[in-house]
Formats: sequence, structure tokens, C-alpha cells
Amino acid sequence: MTSELNGHAVQSQAARRRLEHHEADVVIVGAGILGCALAVALGRQGRSVILLEASMKEPDRIVGELLQPGGVQALEKLGLLECLEDIDAILSVSIIPGRLPPSLSPGGRAFHHGRFVMKLRQAALACPNVTVVETKATGLVTSTQSPQVLGVECVTKDLKDCYFAQQTVIADGYDSKFRKGHHQHTPKRRSKFYGLEMIDAPLPSPCYGHVLLSESPPVLMYQIGTHETRILIDIPDNFPPASVKNGGVKGYLRNTILPSLPKDVQPSFLAALEKDKLRSMPNSFLPASTNKTPGLIILGDALNMRHPLTGGGMTVALNDVCFIRDLLSPEVVPSFEDTELVLKQLSRFHWLRKKSSTVINILAQALYMLFAADDVNLRALQRGCFRYFQIGPVDQPVLMLAGLLKQPLVLVTHFFTVAFLSIWVLFRETPVTQLLLFPFKSIMVFWTACVVIVPYILAELFC
Ligand SMILES: Cc1cc2nc3c(=O)[nH]c(=O)nc-3n(C[C@H](O)[C@H](O)[C@H](O)COP(=O)(O)OP(=O)(O)OC[C@H]3O[C@@H](n4cnc5c(N)ncnc54)[C@H](O)[C@@H]3O)c2cc1C
Ligand SMILES: *[C@@H]1O[C@H](CO)[C@@H](O)[C@H](O)[C@H]1NC(C)=O
Repeated sequence: MTSELNGHAVQSQAARRRLEHHEADVVIVGAGILGCALAVALGRQGRSVILLEASMKEPDRIVGELLQPGGVQALEKLGLLECLEDIDAILSVSIIPGRLPPSLSPGGRAFHHGRFVMKLRQAALACPNVTVVETKATGLVTSTQSPQVLGVECVTKDLKDCYFAQQTVIADGYDSKFRKGHHQHTPKRRSKFYGLEMIDAPLPSPCYGHVLLSESPPVLMYQIGTHETRILIDIPDNFPPASVKNGGVKGYLRNTILPSLPKDVQPSFLAALEKDKLRSMPNSFLPASTNKTPGLIILGDALNMRHPLTGGGMTVALNDVCFIRDLLSPEVVPSFEDTELVLKQLSRFHWLRKKSSTVINILAQALYMLFAADDVNLRALQRGCFRYFQIGPVDQPVLMLAGLLKQPLVLVTHFFTVAFLSIWVLFRETPVTQLLLFPFKSIMVFWTACVVIVPYILAELFC
């Protein structure tokens, strides 16, 4: 009884420190996917948490709408599975219809991003050890004597404000204003996704995610609600078919994409093109780097990004929350004041998280290169990949996409099997009169396969 009372007293004292002194064990910038989940996880461990968010309104974005089964699993580990309820989520299955019994994978969920984020925010708001503040973070507060980060500066309704904590978590997303100077890498962008919402579009295989491959870069379609279907169209930077001269992006969507879609889907696409606001997001690649600044922890998209083709971002983020929760648990790190111990755990985190992120990162980048093939060798690899999905053992690739199979070596093996299959397909396509050229062509295909995957393997191994 007394200890319970003491617990209450400690809890309300911490709440007062958060509200009156703007002071906590940890301050998190960004109540998105990662920030909310982390606030709940740390709050439930008894940490005092301040969560800062620029806008508490329901986000309306074209990102983070498909949660892979690996992400659903992470959500369950975090005790947040109920955030998938009452948001009109669609149970989605593997991406290759007819090639796998659905029982093999527990199923992912597709939904409106904003509805899911609002559920996560409600979970954070319901946590007595978490205080959520609507404010825009504008800078870090650092110590004058050392590089130690002490908290964040904010602007709340035009008024300057500060929040202090032993650890500051940066989770402000893809366009992070805070990673510069604290992250070894900068994001690289090759393309953008343009998004539209189609109403009552009859998909060829309802509940499956669709990747449409043609001469053009990839197009994704998946249902995100009872009536709504998201379509994302990849457009590389400086892509001639979408140049102003050719009618711009809208011209490209109307003249090239529309006729390439399944007949049944075309009317809903056209309607969306005429009515819906066309929105775009950059598709970035950013390798993770070890946090070395005392008092600072960079996570989520601010830390690590891959092409969204495979819908892996939220799965990586939620798995990272699981790792951080365990590595920084009160049993291991009794006080966040122990900056040195936190930094040591963060260096372990950098390598441990690769268990779940490496396969997702490499697969996303390598598949994008093949799917957006823009030369003959990449096209050969694309055909080989396609053939592989038709005849190969697809259970492992599907489990990798789902974020459930996490061994990089398995991925590399499949990738090079695709490379050799591509060479075989090329051999079968080569007319006898051109066979003399075949050895050269096959070396070029193999070389291209290496160029596609090796940089991403190195990025994971050495960054
Ligand atoms: C086109 C596209 C499609 C995608 N599709 C998928 C998908 O289907 N499945 C998937 O798993 N992933 C997908 N992703 C990736 C996914 O969206 C991200 O990995 C995920 O949202 C990252 O979560 P986060 O919490 O790091 O950032 P976010 O979810 O972006 O959250 C950042 C939060 O920080 C807040 N914020 C920003 N700056 C400040 C500030 N200065 N002060 C206070 N608050 C601030 C923002 O308002 C926001 O709420 C996609 C990405 C793109 C680009
Ligand atoms: C809040 O933190 C206290 C310690 O300050 C802890 O005893 C309690 O379990 C936490 N409450 C919840 C609901 O997580």
C-alpha cells in the first residue's frame, strides 16, 4: 500500500516537473509512427516522457499506409495492437496471388496513415507518464562546456519555449531538421512517388498489394479502406516522359499510366486524376549511422530510409522501438543521466537493429533498381526476376518482403539466383546468329547485378 502511494507520489511529481519545469527523463520530437510508439514504450517502463508534435491534427499524407506483417508483430510486442482496430484497416496478404497459401504469413494491414497515427497518439495521451505538447521544435539546446544535448527549443503559438531532458530523441521524419551535424550521411533521392486515392476501384486481386511493371517505372496499388485504394506512381527525377514539354506529370499519368492500368481500374483512376489533389513525396535512401552525440538519439526516418516500394519504413521503425526499449530498459540503464552507458547501448543498437532492417533496406533498394530498369542489362534482370516469381520458391522472398525473414545471406542467395536465371533467360532469347555476343552480354548482366546490390550490402556492413 505504502509503495503504491509512493509510486503515485513519484508519478505526480514527475508530471508536475514536466508541466511546470518542462523537464523529463526523455523529450521526443515528433509524434509520428516512431515517436508515439517510443513514448508509450518508455512511459510504460516508468520513464518520464515529454512528446512534442508540431500538429496534433489528423495527418493527411500518402505515406505509411501498408504495415507489413513484421510491423504488426512489432506492434504486438509493444502492446499496441489495438491501434489497428476501428480504423477500417484492410487485412492484406502476400504480393504474389496464387503462389502461396495465405496461412504462411500472418498478414499485414493497410489503412489511412492519419487514422493509424491518431490511434498511436491516443495511446500516448492515455499514458500517465507521457505529456504530449503541441509545439514546433526549432533547435537543440546544448551545453556551453560540452557537446552534450540538454533539450530542445520550441515555438508554441509564436512564443519561444524550451524543454529539457537527459535524453533528446529526434523522430521528426524524412526531412529532419536536426540530423545535420549528428548523422554521418545525407539522404539521396532518385525519384518521387505521386499519389492519388481511387474510389471503389475493382482490383484484379482484392486485398493484395499490386506492383505493376511495364516499360515505365513501377506503379503500386493497394486498398486502404473499404472504398479507397491508394495508387502510387514512381517518377524518377528528370524523367523525360514527365517533362513540361510532354505535358508534365499530369500528362504522363494520363497518356502513359492510364492506358497501362487494368481496364477495370481505369475509370476510377481517371476520376481521381480529375478530382483528387495530386500529391508527391520524395523517395529517399539514407543509411543509418551510430549516434555519437551525448544526450541525443536519432530514430525513425530521421535515422534511416529506403525506397518505399516494399512498404518497409514503419516496420523498421516499430522494430527499432522494440530494440531501444530493451537496450535502454531501467534494468540495464537505471538512469538516462548516465550518458556514457546510453551511448554504449546506442552503439549496440546500431548493430542489433540490422537484424530487422538490413533485409528490408537492401530488398527495397535492389527491387526498385530492377523494377525501374532503364537499361538493357537491368531489363534482363527484371525479366529474370519476373520469371523467378513465376517458377522459383517464393516463400522465402515473400517472408522477406513481409519483414519476417531477416537473414541477409538468404536475400543475397536469392538475388544471385535471379541474376543467373536472368542470364539463362537471356540465353534462351538470343537468336543463334547472335550467340557469339552472348558471353559478353551475360558478363554485363552479372556485372550489373553486382552494381545493383553490392553498394547496399556495403552500406549495411560498414556504415
Ligand atoms: C511515398 C511513401 C510511401 C510510403 N509508404 C509506406 C508504407 O506503405 N509502409 C511503410 O511501412 N512505410 C511507408 N513509407 C515510410 C513511412 O512513411 C516512414 O518510414 C514512417 O512514417 C517513419 O516514421 P517517423 O515517425 O520516423 O516519421 P513520421 O511518421 O513522418 O513522423 C514525424 C512526425 O514529426 C513531426 N514533426 C516534424 N518536424 C517537427 C518539429 N520541428 N517539431 C515538432 N514535430 C515535428 C511531424 O508532424 C510528424 O508527426 C512510405 C514513405 C514514402 C515516402
Ligand atoms: C509510470 O511510472 C511509474 C514510475 O514513475 C511506474 O511505477 C508506473 O508503472 C508507470 N505507469 C504506467 C501506466 O506505465
